[in-house]
Amino acid sequence: MPKRAKIAVIGGGNVGASCALWAAVKELGDVVVVDIPDAEDRVKGKLLDLAQCGPIERFDANVSATSDYKDISGADVVVITAGIPRKPGMSRDDLVATNVKIVRSVSENIAKHAPEAIVIVVSNPLDAMVYTAWKATGFPTQRIVGQAGCLDVARYRTFIAMELGVSVEDISALLLGGHGDDMVPLPRYTSVHGVPVSQLLSQDKITACVDRAKVGGGEIVKLMGTSAYYAPALGVIDMVEAIIKDKKRILPCAAYCEREYAVGEAGKGYFVGVPVLLGATGVEKIIEIDLNADEKKLMDASTEHVKGLVEVVCKAFPELA
Ligand code: LAC
Repeated sequence: MPKRAKIAVIGGGNVGASCALWAAVKELGDVVVVDIPDAEDRVKGKLLDLAQCGPIERFDANVSATSDYKDISGADVVVITAGIPRKPGMSRDDLVATNVKIVRSVSENIAKHAPEAIVIVVSNPLDAMVYTAWKATGFPTQRIVGQAGCLDVARYRTFIAMELGVSVEDISALLLGGHGDDMVPLPRYTSVHGVPVSQLLSQDKITACVDRAKVGGGEIVKLMGTSAYYAPALGVIDMVEAIIKDKKRILPCAAYCEREYAVGEAGKGYFVGVPVLLGATGVEKIIEIDLNADEKKLMDASTEHVKGLVEVVCKAFPELA
């Protein structure tokens, strides 16, 4: 009898709870949410509320909350959402000092209690937190991946669809780079049911969609006073589903690159957003696409930003270097 998959979510805040909700609704597996002891009752309440959606939406999933990492044992996928979110006026990078400590300690617990799991990181600043999780778990790079591209490209696709007045379903697009305001949406690889977007929208309108996507996270923080969570969580769920169902999806994710996209060199790579093939064993392949000189310049600038953040982490925590 095939067993149900097990998904552990670390952090029961807005992103973590939304991940748990969607994982249960989509019947991807049983879900356990871990938070600190002080938050345990609040998260237990959320998960009880979520469990009671089952009879209405007709899903079967065991969902529970805990502060004991032993309960993640046997997890197929662990999602790290722990950390503080941004407030208005903050950049993602402002969170690094606080979140690196949180993500490091979470990762050590994952390595101890779920040593075979595939880890998806969503805490910010994303690219540096994926690096931290990699170093602190000691897991192979194939089993460490960051969620950012699924969200960022969803924002870009949303804006293109709004501009054209067509279904979001028909917008297909690629995006590269770090999860910062210098991320790289690629209009040359954007199509509307196969039709290049440049045939349907003026260059100015395309540029406006690109620019809005790049600061899409900040736009929401300004309005709500805190970070987005519905779309970030669904970005995670797309990845969880690809892994648990071995779908071999091609999704933009923060994955470890050495020579790929000229990100680093042999033995010294970084996690940056690139299209990957995501399946049961994690990042099964990095898909390299041709970039023209302008696109390459943008990708290089974004990669430099990621490297700078990783340097900040390594300087403050030499044991992670
Ligand atoms: C955002 C946060 C999750 O982009 O980084 O909304």
